[in-house]
Amino acid sequence: MSERPAPDPAPGPVPEGVLRGRRLRRTSALRRLVAEVRLDPADLVLPIFVKDGIDGAVPISSMPGVAQHDVDSSTDLVARALEVGVSAFLLFGIPAHKDEVGSSGWDPHGPVPRAIRAIRDRHGDAALLLADVCSCEYTDHGHCGPLDDHGVVRNDAAVAGYVRESVAYADAGVDLLAPSGMMDGQVAAMRAGLDDAGHGRLGIVGYAAKYHSSFYGPFRDAAESGMSFGDRRTHQMDPANAREATREIAADVAEGADAVIVKPALPYLDVIARARAVVDVPIIGYQVSGEYAMVAAADRAGWLDGVAAMDESLTAIRRAGADAVITYAAIDVATRLA
Ligand code: PBG
Repeated sequence: MSERPAPDPAPGPVPEGVLRGRRLRRTSALRRLVAEVRLDPADLVLPIFVKDGIDGAVPISSMPGVAQHDVDSSTDLVARALEVGVSAFLLFGIPAHKDEVGSSGWDPHGPVPRAIRAIRDRHGDAALLLADVCSCEYTDHGHCGPLDDHGVVRNDAAVAGYVRESVAYADAGVDLLAPSGMMDGQVAAMRAGLDDAGHGRLGIVGYAAKYHSSFYGPFRDAAESGMSFGDRRTHQMDPANAREATREIAADVAEGADAVIVKPALPYLDVIARARAVVDVPIIGYQVSGEYAMVAAADRAGWLDGVAAMDESLTAIRRAGADAVITYAAIDVATRLA
């Protein structure tokens, strides 16, 4: 047998052997083949802010490209998302009336139940509807439930409100309930309340590891849920703690959560990775308003490429172990992927 000529050495100054890592990065087809995760519209969840008393869509200045919607315009937004393959939505309501206990949260004619019915009427089961369950958008002081004499949220009174809110959303036709108040025992109470009301087939997605984060800033403009005093440090998690997150996540799953949320996402990738190692339920990373706004602002200033930074952030959240990602950029990203 004649010897075949040796192939040409790879061009360039890098000595062979050092090239091992680069062989799989040479062309885009090759990089695509060996990618460990990829972005898919099916894995994205789009938040929607539905507000009483507005007409159409009202842009949110701290979140370029994001708006508050009336019920009709929220069904249009869903139509646009479905066209590019995004089929999951997370609803937030901004009511006409706020009070000390947040009673508009369980009003069957409140913005979220009306939006659920309208979206369901127009899009049927093609739209997967999640509803955020908390009282901060419905209380006049902006806290996550009724307050005690010291201005601290009362745990069990808040949870009782979340149960009523959950049942109102379930009656309207929601698919999944996402308690975001970080009250102790909220998942177990909602599970029992939903079961009692005949909604045993509806799942709960617990915001199990939700940190006390400055990255929620723009959301509070969007949801008009800023606090008139104080903060949420006595119930949301301290950014210094990761081990505690695995306890919170395990507790939510033990209480009956069908999936869990880690939030914010990018500053807490270690928490997502730890969660992935300890529970088998789906994990959803929430790329929150401030994460979105930072990329949008830097892009507008010409300081980075916002499209690339957004795709990179979402890929990192998936790589850390999130099965799905809640992101305000869902339609933009899905449009690029289409
Ligand atoms: C509470 C809630 C908040 C967010 C989602 N659900 C605000 C808060 O806890 O203060 C923040 C989401 C974001 O910043 O995008 N209802």
